[in-house]
Amino acid sequence: MYLSNQEERIVEGENGEGYASAMKLLVALGEMFDADKLIPITRAHWAVSGQEGDLFYAEKLANFGARTSVPTTTNPAWDGSLSDEFKVEVSDYELLLLRRTISASDKLGVIKSFSCTPYLYRDVPAAGEHTAFSESSATPYINSIYGAMTNRESSSSALAAGVIGKTPNYGLHLDKNRSPNIVVSVEFKIKDDFDFGLLGWYLGEILKPDDIPLIRGVEGNFSPEALRDFGAMINTSGAVSLFHIENFTPEAKKVKDFRRWLRGSERVSVREEDIASLKRKFTKASGKINSVYMGCPHSTVPEIMKVNSLLGNRKVHRDVKFLIFTSATNLKLIGEANAKKLKEKGVHLLRDSCVDEPVFKFTEGNLGVTNSLKAAYYRKRRNQDFVITSIENCVEAAVRGEI
Ligand code: F3S
Repeated sequence: MYLSNQEERIVEGENGEGYASAMKLLVALGEMFDADKLIPITRAHWAVSGQEGDLFYAEKLANFGARTSVPTTTNPAWDGSLSDEFKVEVSDYELLLLRRTISASDKLGVIKSFSCTPYLYRDVPAAGEHTAFSESSATPYINSIYGAMTNRESSSSALAAGVIGKTPNYGLHLDKNRSPNIVVSVEFKIKDDFDFGLLGWYLGEILKPDDIPLIRGVEGNFSPEALRDFGAMINTSGAVSLFHIENFTPEAKKVKDFRRWLRGSERVSVREEDIASLKRKFTKASGKINSVYMGCPHSTVPEIMKVNSLLGNRKVHRDVKFLIFTSATNLKLIGEANAKKLKEKGVHLLRDSCVDEPVFKFTEGNLGVTNSLKAAYYRKRRNQDFVITSIENCVEAAVRGEI
């Protein structure tokens, strides 16, 4: 891979060990994937998890002087005040990981968005922009919905790109690699956002890693939430970083001759029964519930206000913790009065936090409901089973205390 004199000097340590480490990671990645050079990026998203693996590398860069050179947002960690609010004991080690995450973020000069969806409200690239986004819902959204360009970055490679302001030129940064290699025909009408998310999960399971599907047969103006969930699911059950929807996503809309655009001739069909059987599988548990998890990926303002109006004058059952994960920015938009109203009804709006964090251990071991397959996937590892269903059903279950 070609490196300019300046890039070589960074590898050799001219700017310090932190920048050298970041540059070495990008060069290794580029050489592995046959990149010809590094290209400038405009922004990055660092999916830091607040766990040892990510922190080891972040602290290595931060403590040796590296600072981000393009706007770099962060994933959620967890809000330290929650252990008091929910009277949960977190270990000294768990607290230390949180403090280390915040301290490394400060040193690196990242934007502490602490949200997995900053691309929906503050970090929006234009079509054709080169970026470096880690996080399962972010990568497909950036590529597919905005028509900007990113590879499926790890947390460390996105951070290294944010520090150097460049990324290796390979994969989805090249136009020739962005055309679809498989056609997906959807042979039924998608009823709502939840079904669209299920379709994403189903496709993630049947497609090969790095397949780029062209999805046909789905119509309508999908909400940002539906598109966010579709991307999160297809990139959690599988590894799909870019999808095209006929007549909808920007790159598909530009195409005049689909036959020339397609690479290969593979085709799959999705029938109503495929999604119905997935739904049966995810909703078959029943009984008393102790929690509702919404906001994985982080909930938007309309989703939170929808919960408010679905509840009306009713309250969440006293045995149920109704948790909605969102960003601090969304909380500001919602305003204190609305947040207070929701709290009185038994809904907790949580900022800066992720479902896969230790502070939520108070719901472990019992059944919960969620509208997110991804939440269920991560919470399962923390010994909690879920019924996965629509927001409407989550709210009804929350009021009854059972499903
Ligand atoms: Fe976001 Fe954590 Fe879910 S990063 S997508 S809340 S697993």
